Amino acid sequence: MAKNKTVFFCKECGFESAKWLGQCPGCKAWDSFTEEPVLKKSNKPAGIKVTREPELLSNIKAEAELRLCSGIEELDRVLGGGIVKGSLVLVGGDPGIGKSTLLLQMCREIVNKSRKVLYISGEESLSQIKMRAERLGVFHGELLLLCETNLELIEDAIGKHSPEIVIIDSIQTMFKEEVSSSPGSVSQVREATSTLMQIAKGIGITIFIIGHVTKEGVVAGPRVLEHMVDTVLYFEGDNYASYRVLRAVKNRFGSTNEIGVFEMQGTGLVEVKNPSEFMLKGRPEGEPGSVVAASIEGTRPILVEVQALICRTNFNMPRRTAAGTDYNRVNLLMAVLEKRAGVQLSDCDAYVNVAGGMRITEPALDLAVTTAILSSYKNIALDNKTVLFGEVGLTGEIRAVNMAEHRVTEAAKMGFEVCILPQANKEHIKAPGIKLIGVRNIQEVMALLRK
Ligand code: TYD
Ligand code: MG
Repeated sequence: MAKNKTVFFCKECGFESAKWLGQCPGCKAWDSFTEEPVLKKSNKPAGIKVTREPELLSNIKAEAELRLCSGIEELDRVLGGGIVKGSLVLVGGDPGIGKSTLLLQMCREIVNKSRKVLYISGEESLSQIKMRAERLGVFHGELLLLCETNLELIEDAIGKHSPEIVIIDSIQTMFKEEVSSSPGSVSQVREATSTLMQIAKGIGITIFIIGHVTKEGVVAGPRVLEHMVDTVLYFEGDNYASYRVLRAVKNRFGSTNEIGVFEMQGTGLVEVKNPSEFMLKGRPEGEPGSVVAASIEGTRPILVEVQALICRTNFNMPRRTAAGTDYNRVNLLMAVLEKRAGVQLSDCDAYVNVAGGMRITEPALDLAVTTAILSSYKNIALDNKTVLFGEVGLTGEIRAVNMAEHRVTEAAKMGFEVCILPQANKEHIKAPGIKLIGVRNIQEVMALLRK
């Protein structure tokens, strides 16, 4: 009997097993194993062959990372200050979110600086890319385009044209001949990425890999990919809103948590230089249940509107939803209100929403969520020139948060007149042309609402 020629992979983390398992021992995901043919090992080494000798550490000159400006400020910020030479960058996101558009725009900026860029598409034909490029504007430099999915041929093309930057659109369409499973499977994606990594490190070029995200919100074989690449960027946004957020979740050359904000328009993605203004557009004024929170994303303050709707429930189990923030956190804050402020919320439905489609999970949003809930419950509107931030503790105390001065400054810049903040933070902030109201606990917040 011929031996079994298949192997099982975890779709989530790439864990390999000889037999099917209900739960992955690697990442504990349930029912995540798929069957794939065994990799045939080829004798040909992957990647472009470069022979290297070990070097003495003391002989190696430490050179500063060479960074190239992408020409898109928001993208540079997320990358940690520009594109690092020889790095491998994964750009993930839902299909149709604008990954190809973003990278094609980046290509435009780079070729306009007369650098050589190779864009490899496995999804669109040359004429489709041309049509998209025409919408985006004029390309002054020469951009090399290639429609190919076979990695061996891609390697040859890279070797022949030696571009400085290569875009792979998308990793799920690429395949290596010696791997017998179909493109997009865990083993293909893994092998393809490792080949690309060897090319990038071997000849010192930067490769951008586009990866589609699956329904569960992860790139196929995500952890495998995330381990291999230097930087992981996620492009996310609401299907119904035109703005898009580019977020770094891993970065070997910069900080994570930096975000870049874009808006999708008819002529491609436009950078949003002032996200606060963008997020507060169309805000209802003087309505109960709507407050403005000063939040921080990475190192940037962003003002967002937090809305809550509290109404009496018709069922035994009240309904609670939280859009754009953490559901459990909202439940916790409601419990704090019930116990520490004596607000009867157990028979109320609660809907909390961070307007604009932004997702914010930092605790500094607590005070705004709590106040929005109180405001809706009591049907009293907060003054519309007021902004809040602060963490709410389990005993109802308002705790200090980081970067308070940044938040206050942003609020003042956006024309807000009053800022409600933790008392502990207030003591350290110098008068920035905005009235500061320090609060110590939830009762003091309630007293403010009554006025
Ligand atoms: P695309 O970059 O193809 O998405 P991805 O590569 O992530 O799958 O983005 C496609 C969407 O963007 C499509 O729905 C149309 C829209 N779009 C615009 O609104 N304006 C434009 O100028 C372009 C090029 C695309
Ligand atoms: Mg695309």
